[in-house]
Amino acid sequence: MPGERELIDEQIAYYRRRAAEYDATTTPPGDPFAAESEQIEAALEAFRPLGKVLELACGTGSWTRRLVLHASEITALDSSPEMIDLNRLKVNDPRVRYVVADVFSWSPDSAYDVVMFANWLSHVPPDRFDDFWALVERCLPPGGRVFFVDEAKDAWRNEERLSEEFLGPSGAHLVRRRLRDGSAHRVIKVFWDPAELQARLRGMGWQVAVAGTGSFYWGEGTPPNRPRRGAPESPEGGT
Ligand SMILES: C[S@@+](CC[C@H](N)C(=O)[O-])C[C@H]1O[C@@H](n2cnc3c(N)ncnc32)[C@H](O)[C@@H]1O
Repeated sequence: MPGERELIDEQIAYYRRRAAEYDATTTPPGDPFAAESEQIEAALEAFRPLGKVLELACGTGSWTRRLVLHASEITALDSSPEMIDLNRLKVNDPRVRYVVADVFSWSPDSAYDVVMFANWLSHVPPDRFDDFWALVERCLPPGGRVFFVDEAKDAWRNEERLSEEFLGPSGAHLVRRRLRDGSAHRVIKVFWDPAELQARLRGMGWQVAVAGTGSFYWGEGTPPNRPRRGAPESPEGGT
């Protein structure tokens, strides 16, 4: 098995190269999951991501453009400058501050009212799951909130163009993706069962609820209630 760092770098390179075709290749024609997407969009509306929001792995901005409807300011982070350029074009809002960074090497520069990530948790290597959530916790002062959404299974398995090609033994969480230029790339892909994800996070002290729509899930909640050391200061005028 390749090293984890090598896979993370490969995943970063893959998304940089995919940026220009990302929007056109995320949904099949006549999107069969439109109703599920609408359910999750409604959940985000009900959640109301107010105040100072951090979006991790923001991509081309499909969710950033929803966050700006509520947030007073957004930090949108992604390792791909190409994704960020497209996000900037799509969202076109001066309240969004863009950061090009690798989530796994980044430290929060501020505290946030809300941390949001879409279609990202499935790309976090299982061995880095706890560290990733510790990072989210560091970004959120008491009262802060998290919202996340992702695929619960290979939703596109009947779509030749979009279905996942799994590599290695089951549990390797590794897939091969192809781009339009024919190049092949390895990507980490963990399909979390919503109930298992909720139990795992609650076991870590998060007060979260994770709901499935069938092919997708979304979760929302608050960080563990424990003393913080070295956390960034709370945002001013937080919600
Ligand atoms: C599946 S896309 C999701 C994009 C967006 N959140 C959405 O839902 O449309 C994954 C995103 O993660 C970014 N990414 C991959 N590895 C990363 C890393 N190590 N640190 C930060 N961003 C990363 C990619 O550039 C890509 O924009």
